[in-house]
Amino acid sequence: MIMIEDIEKVLYTEEEIQKKVEELGRLITRDYERKNLFIINVLKGSVVFLSDLIRSITLPLSIDFMAISSYGPSTQSSGVVRLVKDLEENINDKNVLVVEDIVDTGLTLNYLLKSLKARGPKSIEVCTLLDKSIRRIVDVPLAYKGFDVPDVFVVGYGLDYDQRYRNLPFIGILRPEIFTRT
Ligand code: IMP
Ligand code: MG
Repeated sequence: MIMIEDIEKVLYTEEEIQKKVEELGRLITRDYERKNLFIINVLKGSVVFLSDLIRSITLPLSIDFMAISSYGPSTQSSGVVRLVKDLEENINDKNVLVVEDIVDTGLTLNYLLKSLKARGPKSIEVCTLLDKSIRRIVDVPLAYKGFDVPDVFVVGYGLDYDQRYRNLPFIGILRPEIFTRT
């Protein structure tokens, strides 16, 4: 099975993504100078973005991981959020930046931010590569965002459909018939 055959259209090429990630890295570098930057990454979709983003930030920083699950194999948000893995470090008094792959309904991020704010960080902001704002249910403040995506299901560059396609170097739209295939 060749993954590329399942892609209807490439939305953002590898080059476009790299350019955008560097831009975000520059903004973050500018804003967090002399602040202890603590990056929280939400597994698993955003690890690809994270690994590129941190290399575009020219400041000392640390990273920690969290896993929250709101999606099963389906492409619809269930609204049910489950904490699968918690942070290893304490974020009290730290300048936290949450790195996300995509904000869709906002339900996942809303839950996450609420739980993180209760732990007393000095500041907390969000950086997302993709913003599917048209689907938003709860308003979440996004300090940094890469691309505004249309209301389509996208895969690649960390984003999956049923755990697949994360390793595509670009972001593309999946052919609709893939969703109905078992
Ligand atoms: P939300 O709670 O609806 O904002 O969903 C956020 C999560 O849903 C993301 O972190 C992704 O894991 C997943 N998601 C939402 N839209 C897409 C998409 O177009 N492609 C792949 N995953 C998506
Ligand atoms: Mg996912």
